[in-house]
Amino acid sequence: MTDELLTVRDLKVSFGADSGVAQVLDNVNLTIGQGEIVGLVGESGCGKTTLARAILGVLPAPAARIESGIVNFLGDDLLQRTSEDLSTNIRGRDITFIPQDPYSSFNPVFTIGTQIMELMKWKSPLLRGQGNGTGGFLSRYPRQRYDADRKHVIELLNTVQLPQPEQILKKYPHEISGGQRQRLMIAMALLPDPKLIIADEPTTALDVTIQAQILKLLRQLASERNVAVLFTTHDLGTAYEICDSVTVMYAGQEMESAPSSGFFNRPSHPYTKRLLDSLPSREHGIEGIAGEIPGLINPPKGCRFHPRCNAATGICSQGRPDPQGIDTHHWVRCYHPVGAKVAAP
Ligand SMILES: Nc1ncnc2c1ncn2[C@@H]1O[C@H](COP(=O)(O)OP(=O)(O)OP(=O)(O)O)[C@@H](O)[C@H]1O
Ligand code: SF4
Ligand SMILES: [Mg+2]
Repeated sequence: MTDELLTVRDLKVSFGADSGVAQVLDNVNLTIGQGEIVGLVGESGCGKTTLARAILGVLPAPAARIESGIVNFLGDDLLQRTSEDLSTNIRGRDITFIPQDPYSSFNPVFTIGTQIMELMKWKSPLLRGQGNGTGGFLSRYPRQRYDADRKHVIELLNTVQLPQPEQILKKYPHEISGGQRQRLMIAMALLPDPKLIIADEPTTALDVTIQAQILKLLRQLASERNVAVLFTTHDLGTAYEICDSVTVMYAGQEMESAPSSGFFNRPSHPYTKRLLDSLPSREHGIEGIAGEIPGLINPPKGCRFHPRCNAATGICSQGRPDPQGIDTHHWVRCYHPVGAKVAAP
């Protein structure tokens, strides 16, 4: 891995609900290197979006509570910064976001051009180091900067292969296809010249063929520009296509993390192994993992996978295993990793 860009350490997040307090992230760790594409993989409800939102500083208040942990971005703990500071200086600038459903991110009553230029008014890369660069929300958009920003927008729309960018800017969000909207979201995520893009299941809503094109584009643009991507997905095939490394989560706990080659060739956590074995194949069709994903209000103690794990022993329900090294940058949180001779942590 290259130099570290973002490190999440022991992040614990709970959600208050009528029926109790859900322990949604249980001391989660994650590392993203500069320019690295990291897949955050896991089944529905395992906490991918919650972790993404915690990094962005947009957990839903008042239900969500950060109990402890650190989100270190370039040496600075984002959890210690105010929401106004994050909104002005980090979100939409150094860290941008691509949502699952691009349609809901647009306002249906304004043209795409109006909405993109409003974004650029506050988040233009020309404003780096100048706060929001204006005298307040009623201030005007200086003509010279508007023209330079618009040129930059057109260039990026060309880069994401949107045909006739000038025409696209005049359209309303419903007038372009889902694939074009997602290309637009990639362009918008790149516009402020970020260091990290958080892409939360960005292709789930698209047809399979369009998905492949969008993934290829995101991968190509991120590596050309040395932008890191945190890519959440429940689909291991998608992670295989795009990611340099993968962290797998189960019921609010991260279980294994490895460069993609190690992750797919030598899965070492019983859950990872079962997930990979459950991918449909000609030999065995689709095989699920027996048992249910646990609720998070009273989750299983210790390793949360233990009620479903064939390798579990008494210790597994007593406390959560520490990370153990398997190979360079490959570690697993398991007392009994799959067939592994475990190296020193
Ligand atoms: N606003 C909320 N209030 C209460 N619980 C919530 C809230 N948002 C999420 N949760 C709970 O947090 C857990 C993790 O949810 P999260 O959306 O992070 O999972 P996910 O891995 O992104 O799932 P998916 O693949 O379905 O998007 C779930 O049990 C969910 O019910
Ligand atoms: S710690 Fe125990 S229960 Fe958890 S995956 Fe490893 S063997 Fe299974
Ligand atoms: Mg999600």
